[in-house]
Amino acid sequence: MTASPEKCFEALLLEMASLFEGDGCEAGGETADVLRRAAGKVIAVPATPYKYDHFVVSALKNANHPCAAAARGCQKFLQWDATGGFLDEQVPTDVSDAFTSNSLMGPGCLVEHSTLRAGLFVQRPNTYYPLHNHEAVETYVMIEGVGYWTQGDKTTRHGVGGVIHHPSEMLHAFKTLEHPLVALWRWSGNTDPDTYRLYPELDLE
Ligand SMILES: [Fe+2]
Repeated sequence: MTASPEKCFEALLLEMASLFEGDGCEAGGETADVLRRAAGKVIAVPATPYKYDHFVVSALKNANHPCAAAARGCQKFLQWDATGGFLDEQVPTDVSDAFTSNSLMGPGCLVEHSTLRAGLFVQRPNTYYPLHNHEAVETYVMIEGVGYWTQGDKTTRHGVGGVIHHPSEMLHAFKTLEHPLVALWRWSGNTDPDTYRLYPELDLE
């Protein structure tokens, strides 16, 4: 029997909690606790269509990770947009065209929290998200696909299960080749979006 979208949404929050609990980075346990408490209590609402919905469907189509499978089962509730709804002023469209983001937890989100933020991120194949940084401490956990993650002057290939940690103000960039990249993301510390900066002039791409 196929699980309902509501049950898949509950499973998604629990899977996110499990992955963040074990990510080994600052505030992972606190973020996990908030998600776990919300699972089964938060009433998800159907999302409005976004231009990259079909990319998300395609990226998750054959995903095996239980978190990715849960996301696939509740896509009707996942509100995708350019930057998860909070960095639109900082990220120009020619940059955000490479990806789509979703905010599930944070100020004004389904899972309400005044400072901690978390959601999902999908980057299209053969795209580049240039160097940027922010005061917030950031962790990504890969749940599908392959990404080439630049942290400072080092670039590392990560597949499913990869955990990528960006301390406050560390420069980072993401690249995809033939595969898309699907990851969980979370912010802690100073999560004010005004501290976000892009540095295309530093880019060697
Ligand atoms: Fe970041």
